[in-house]
Amino acid sequence: MISSRANTATVPELELVLASDPDVIKQVWINNKVHFAPYASDEAWLEKSRIRTNVDLGPGMGHSIWVLVPRGKGNDPTSILSAAHIILRPGLISKITSKATSELPTNKELNAQELKHSNTQHILASQQNGHLTESTHELKEIAVAYVLLVFTPIEHRSRGFANAMLRMVMDKLKHQTDPVVDLSYLFSAIEPTFYANLGWQMMRSRELVLDQLKSHVFPDLPLVDASAAGAKYRINNVTESDLREIVNEDVELLRSEMAKCTLEAPRGQNLHFVTILPHEEAFRTHFEMTRYSNLHIDHINRPITRIGVRLVSIDEHYKGLDAFVIWTYIPSSSRICILRLRYQTVHQLQCLLREAMKEAQEWGFSMVSVWDLNDKDALAATGMFNRDRTSWWLCVAQMEHENFGGSITMVANGAYTWGL
Ligand SMILES: CC(C)(COP(=O)(O)OP(=O)(O)OC[C@H]1O[C@@H](n2cnc3c(N)ncnc32)[C@H](O)[C@@H]1OP(=O)(O)O)[C@@H](O)C(=O)NCCC(=O)NCCS
Repeated sequence: MISSRANTATVPELELVLASDPDVIKQVWINNKVHFAPYASDEAWLEKSRIRTNVDLGPGMGHSIWVLVPRGKGNDPTSILSAAHIILRPGLISKITSKATSELPTNKELNAQELKHSNTQHILASQQNGHLTESTHELKEIAVAYVLLVFTPIEHRSRGFANAMLRMVMDKLKHQTDPVVDLSYLFSAIEPTFYANLGWQMMRSRELVLDQLKSHVFPDLPLVDASAAGAKYRINNVTESDLREIVNEDVELLRSEMAKCTLEAPRGQNLHFVTILPHEEAFRTHFEMTRYSNLHIDHINRPITRIGVRLVSIDEHYKGLDAFVIWTYIPSSSRICILRLRYQTVHQLQCLLREAMKEAQEWGFSMVSVWDLNDKDALAATGMFNRDRTSWWLCVAQMEHENFGGSITMVANGAYTWGL
């Protein structure tokens, strides 16, 4: 389990401990502030960490901190050799088995039908370069481990401690039963081979950027306000008090989409399609942290009044959640970052992005970004440009207990920021 370098180091016996001692937990945060928030005061960073760790994601889920220490030193804050944080989150696997195939409609046909731009379907279609098939689905709730804030104090670096700790953490997760963890993921800010050597597989990680210069693509957009002729929707602001209703409905829609994706891989192959489910409490905690950071770390004293918009049908009898966006504010990189996006048509997407753009302009930011929106029609229509992330990679590891057999073919977040 422990890397040879750690075994031969001056500390022969190491132990992985779930940090519970308040002094150890505090020391972990003080240590990693050097790297993750050097500009913040200790006090502000600790308060932000308190908000972050209090997130309630349901039974068996939530935030924990693991430390590597010399055996027997689990309660000694000065003995931390390396540390990692884990957030267990609810997710969903759809195992799709194809029966027959036929060609996909061409892009032109898709446009003619104004085909629904369901997030999941488009990801499947474009990734598989695919076939339309009859398929069976098994849907399973899973727990997914998000690994973050991996940190070795500077004086202990290059002795194999982070490697040893991550191997032990992975081993723990593999053998955990309540809940069973099927998958782990992280965003690597360093050369991803470091994580690949430990079993994490590198996945595509891209972001779309809409900068101010591109806003010229929007002026001709037909208005969707109720006052406009032929308008089908009006734009409603989304506030934190709307989160419960929107997220719950969004999750229900995701479940049904996951259960009946019709676009498939070549005949005879199984697809394991995984998504992390958006979680109301994750959003809530996120906004609490953002408010705190804006005020106490970035020193921006500006209230957050809306966290997105929703397109509401002007037909009062129709209550469906067709299109919405939830965003967050990142002053340090002068951007609005989209956390969750749902749309059926390109026109709806344009309306949502236009609102995000307006909000960015009001805050004096230079861009709007969204991760992994893999939809070519949408890209063409919005003038967004898609770039591979060069500073962050998504890495995913499947646990070995083979709940579903075979490997995970595809992981998608349906335009949901996993790091939330
Ligand atoms: C990354 C980190 C956790 C590694 O801890 P460690 O205990 O020194 O790691 P190990 O001794 O097990 O492995 C060291 C190897 O990791 C790799 N590595 C470490 N930092 C790296 C970096 N910034 N970029 C690329 N590879 C890196 C190198 O291959 C290194 O080998 P070397 O010592 O021969 O150069 C540590 O450098 C750290 O805390 N960095 C700051 C926080 C951070 O970047 N965390 C990762 C966020 S994704």
